[in-house]
Amino acid sequence: MRAVDIIIKKRDGGVLSPAEISFFIEGYTRGDIPDEQAAALMMAIFFKGMDYKETAELTLAMARSGEQVDLSGIPGVKVDKHSTGGIGDKTTLIVGPVAAACGIPVAKMSGRALGFTGGTIDKLESIPGLGTSFTVEQMVKMVNETGICVAGQTAELAPADKKLYALRDVTGTIDSIPLIAASIMSKKIAAGADAIVLDVKYGSGAFMKTREQAQLLADTMCAIGTEVGRRTVAVLNTMEEPLGMNIGNAVEVEEAIETLKGRGSPDLVEHCLGLAGRMIALGLGVSYEEGERMAQERIDDGSALRKLGDMIEAQGGDRRVCSDPEKYLGKAAYSQVYYARNGGFLRKIDGYSMGMAAFTLGAGRAVKTDPSDPHAGVVMHTRSGVNVSEGDALCTLYSSRPVSAETLSWLDNAYEICGE
Ligand code: URA
Repeated sequence: MRAVDIIIKKRDGGVLSPAEISFFIEGYTRGDIPDEQAAALMMAIFFKGMDYKETAELTLAMARSGEQVDLSGIPGVKVDKHSTGGIGDKTTLIVGPVAAACGIPVAKMSGRALGFTGGTIDKLESIPGLGTSFTVEQMVKMVNETGICVAGQTAELAPADKKLYALRDVTGTIDSIPLIAASIMSKKIAAGADAIVLDVKYGSGAFMKTREQAQLLADTMCAIGTEVGRRTVAVLNTMEEPLGMNIGNAVEVEEAIETLKGRGSPDLVEHCLGLAGRMIALGLGVSYEEGERMAQERIDDGSALRKLGDMIEAQGGDRRVCSDPEKYLGKAAYSQVYYARNGGFLRKIDGYSMGMAAFTLGAGRAVKTDPSDPHAGVVMHTRSGVNVSEGDALCTLYSSRPVSAETLSWLDNAYEICGE
C-alpha cells in the first residue's frame, strides 16, 4: 500500500477502506509517512468529506495510536462528558460531582485547551495543592475510593490526534466536521468510558458558529459512538453569551462551588442539570427527567458539594475552598470595576468579546507553553435583558497585572446597551 494512492483516492472522492485508514494513521504516527502527505490527505478530506463509517474507522485508528485506558477495574457504567468549549464553561466542575454523588463512577481526563480561558485542568489547578497528573492505576484507585477523579490527559492518549491537530492548525484544515468529530471522539474512546455525553456549543463564543454546523457535528459524533459500541448522546447549547457569571480559572471554581450550594445562575443551573441528567440516565438506565430530578436532589441535599470536597482532598487540594472559596482560593493582585458608559436596555453580552476580555487579563493562553493566570478573570454582575443606568457596575475584572486599555475596549464591544 502507498500513502500517495490513498491521498489520490480521497482527492477523487473515493471512500477509504479500514485497511487504508489504519495504514495511513499508523504510518504517520510512527513517522514513516511525512507531514506533507498527511497535510494533503487532511486537505482532501476537508474538500471531499468522509461518510460515517470512514469517520468511525479514522476515529478508531487514532484511538489505537497510543494508550487505551482500561477502566474495567471500576465497577459500573463509566460515563464521560465532553464540552466543545465556550466562554465561562465550568460544567465539568459541577456535573462531575453531581453525577458521582448519584453513584456514577466519574473517571475523567480533561485538557488545558488553548484559547480565551484555561481548560478544566487549569481551573482545577487554581485550587491550592490540587494535582491532576496521575497514572491510570492511581485514577482507578481514586474513583473506587471517592467516586470521582479528574486528571490531565496523558501524552500517550491518541498521539496521532496530537500530531494531526498541530498539522491541521497550520494547514487550514481544522474546520472539517469529520476531522473534528474523529479528533474529539478518538480521545474519548481512548480514555475508556462506556458511554459519552456531548455538550456541543454554537454561537459567537463557540467553535461552531451556527446551530446547523453544531447539529452536523453532534450527529457525526453520535454516529461514531454508535458505530464503535459506546452509547453517545449529544445536547446542543447556544454560546452567544457567556455561561454563568464568571469567566477565568479560580473565579469559575468559585462559581461552581456556589452552584453546588444551590446558588447558581439560572442559565448555568439549567445547562448543568441537562448534562448531569443525561449522564445519570446513561449510567443508571433511568429516564432523562428522572436523571435531572436526581441531579437537583444531590445539589439540594449538599451531597454533590461534599463529593467535590472529597475529590479535591483525594487529589491533594485544600477542601476548605468549598466552605470559603474567597479565602482559600487566593486573590488577584489587581481588580477593577467596569461601569456602564450609558444607560438603556442591556440587549446582549457578547460571548466572544467577553472571552477576549478575560484572555487579555491573562486567563487564557495563546500558545501551549504560556502560563494561565489562576486569578485572572471577569465576574459579571448582571445578565442581559435588563435596564441599566449610566455608572452601574457591570462586572469586576481581576488580574495579576494592571487592567489594560485593550481589555476595556473588548468590554465596550461586549456590552450592547440600547440608549434610553
Ligand atoms: N477539539 C478537538 O479536540 N479537536 C478538534 O479538531 C477541534 C476541537
